[in-house]
Amino acid sequence: MESMYNDLEKVLFTKEQIDARIKEVAKELDKDYEGKRPIMVSILKGSIMFYADLLRAMTIKTEMDFMAISSYGNATKSSGEVKMIKDLDRSIEGRHIVIVEDIVDTGYTLNYLKATLKTRNPASVKICALLNKQERRVVDIAADYTCFEVGDEFVVGYGLDYAQIYRNLPVIGVLKKEVYSS
Ligand code: IMP
Repeated sequence: MESMYNDLEKVLFTKEQIDARIKEVAKELDKDYEGKRPIMVSILKGSIMFYADLLRAMTIKTEMDFMAISSYGNATKSSGEVKMIKDLDRSIEGRHIVIVEDIVDTGYTLNYLKATLKTRNPASVKICALLNKQERRVVDIAADYTCFEVGDEFVVGYGLDYAQIYRNLPVIGVLKKEVYSS
């Protein structure tokens, strides 16, 4: 039978490990944003699993909004070009913003997003990332909250895709090289 698991070289983080770490990060956010009613901004589509679990693990009052930007397409390398496909629904003036992203790789995407949102006069803009791939950083940007560090490997699952596939894997794993080199 066809299984996405056959395409994984190894599993880096199990669902249990992801859940446990998300609970810790949610606690930090609860503490840092108490009484601030932050707008939690999901960057589609990669962050959806993380976003849904993170927000349900938080207990303070938050609001949701969504943005979409151009992504990798079918390649595994970033071009440095970032384009907005869907903007936020509402004004963020005077509000505390937490950008929820799947992974910080070269940093181009978050650099663009942070700069774009800052022009709209929010009270603050912070970044919460599921994964950090420090080795590949080109732009000097760091997430304020990070769940896990990964090496210079192409990872999929828990929202992250290759050619739009594997987003619904409940684990985070390294994709076999032959899957994207063939
Ligand atoms: P950056 O602009 O290079 O930091 O890349 C950000 C985007 O590239 C992320 O939001 C992901 O959608 C995608 N990306 C980067 N590395 C990976 C990976 O290992 N697997 C899947 N997607 C990735």
